[in-house]
Amino acid sequence: MYLSSLQIRNFRNIKETQLQFNTGVNIILGQNGQGKTNLLEAIYFLGIARSFRTSCDSALISRDMDGFFLSGIVVQQHIQDKIDVLLEDTKKVRINNKFLPRIIDLIGHFQVIIFFPEDLHLVKGTPDIRRRFLDILLSQSNPQYLHYLQRYNKIHKHCNEMLWQLKTGQQVITMSELDVWDIQRQETGNQLIRARKEAIEVLNDLAAGIHHQIATSPTLMEDGGSSEILKISYKPSMFNKEKRVDEIRKGHTLNGPHLDDMVFQINEIDARRFSSQGQQRTASISLRLAELEYLYQQTKELPVLLLDDICSELDDVRREYLMKAINRGGQIFITTTSLDTIKELMDGARVFTVRNGLIYS
Ligand SMILES: Nc1ncnc2c1ncn2[C@@H]1O[C@H](COP(=O)(O)OP(=O)(O)OP(=O)(O)O)[C@@H](O)[C@H]1O
Ligand SMILES: [Mg+2]
Repeated sequence: MYLSSLQIRNFRNIKETQLQFNTGVNIILGQNGQGKTNLLEAIYFLGIARSFRTSCDSALISRDMDGFFLSGIVVQQHIQDKIDVLLEDTKKVRINNKFLPRIIDLIGHFQVIIFFPEDLHLVKGTPDIRRRFLDILLSQSNPQYLHYLQRYNKIHKHCNEMLWQLKTGQQVITMSELDVWDIQRQETGNQLIRARKEAIEVLNDLAAGIHHQIATSPTLMEDGGSSEILKISYKPSMFNKEKRVDEIRKGHTLNGPHLDDMVFQINEIDARRFSSQGQQRTASISLRLAELEYLYQQTKELPVLLLDDICSELDDVRREYLMKAINRGGQIFITTTSLDTIKELMDGARVFTVRNGLIYS
């Protein structure tokens, strides 16, 4: 799968541009603050209809403009699809000139994976970051998952409303009414739990192998490094009816997949709390590379990789490993301020230079 062209209008500091991309490596070169990440953000938006750095869509509209427009041609097994995303008063998505009834239905048409400095928070951040990671990955690889996720969110919202009414006494709700909805919540939630459990088992095997290779590379060992074992496990929030009294007292649910988490351990120690920043970064890169492999296994297509500022944060050994691991023949977009840091990717690459929102190739 690859993005063959992209038209951008009024997205951040990119006013108007039309770009043709390489099916392999695309290097986005420029000084700080010129618009490199903005270009990656536009490409990501075409895949997920959201940004990886803000949840506020209107921040993406060029200042003093009323909306933005993105249009890309995605090629998958020789079939071209035109994806248009526009944000004016509302967000709209068109595929091959037909509006999608729901924005969320875009997911799965253009598979993208982002590697960026904030990935560190996959390991050390709050559980919602890890749940979002799982939800995006599973939705991209399995349309059924997205269906259950939406259904769960809807039922969960309704259960919360009922619990709030029971707490405040605003409206008469019977326990059996609540039970009927809660059983539906559990049934749908169990589908999510099953899918997450299976995916995390596969991700754990993949990420552990990758992490072991990075953290035990000969150079690191010569420098006195020691072998590291990464383990990623699932920490589901199991349904438990005994919490009902507390739920009514608080006015919201206290269990279910919306409270799940993933635990990272390095050499059996909780990586979130005790590992060094370098170890956490290696674990987050291992997870992203595992995500790449997982999507490939599930969909038999290499997703498009977006790498933002990734090299500047890594030592040479990790940087070289990452360059090799990502360069698998799929399409790559990588930002950099200097070509020196990405020598390994230069062969056959196309370079785009970004200056003050203008992109030259
Ligand atoms: N909504 C917006 N409208 C216009 N300009 C914007 C908007 N949002 C951000 N910008 C501008 O975009 C520029 C930053 O772009 P971007 O984050 O892509 O830089 P970069 O090239 O990735 O830099 P760095 O190397 O520092 O990461 C800033 O000049 C900022 O003012
Ligand atoms: Mg940037």
